[in-house]
Amino acid sequence: MDLIVNGERHSLVVDRERSLLSVLRDEDGLTGSKYGGGEGNCGACTVLIAGEPAQSCVTSASAAAERHVTTIEGLADGESLHPVQQAFVDHSAFQCGYCTPGFIISAVGLLKRNPHPDEKEIRSGLNGNICRCGAYARIVKAVRSASETAE
Ligand code: FES
Repeated sequence: MDLIVNGERHSLVVDRERSLLSVLRDEDGLTGSKYGGGEGNCGACTVLIAGEPAQSCVTSASAAAERHVTTIEGLADGESLHPVQQAFVDHSAFQCGYCTPGFIISAVGLLKRNPHPDEKEIRSGLNGNICRCGAYARIVKAVRSASETAE
């Protein structure tokens, strides 16, 4: 099957039912998306499929075939971080960092749908992502700041 990942087409011979996360990490070498519980409950594996956040651990690779997949590796523009990535750095919106790629991807998806969310909308837009370290307040602050930068 063909996957279009971060703007590049990849032709892969893989089991169509294999998870997108497993294919991205083990076939494409894109290890930014993380494995959490493997049941779609924590958001660590979130990627964008056609611009919409999706949990890649419970999405089959075939469901993403021929659609544009964006992973955390595809956000920066050369040396310039994506505004959401930069805001996470500026606000120290992480502790161990395991959840960070998933939160950033979800936030990018949220800001695409709603460029200027209020705090409640940010919290609800990110409610599929869990941070074991409890960095939620700083994460919300970072997303808010990224939305203001976009003004
Ligand atoms: Fe550790 Fe979120 S920063 S899980």
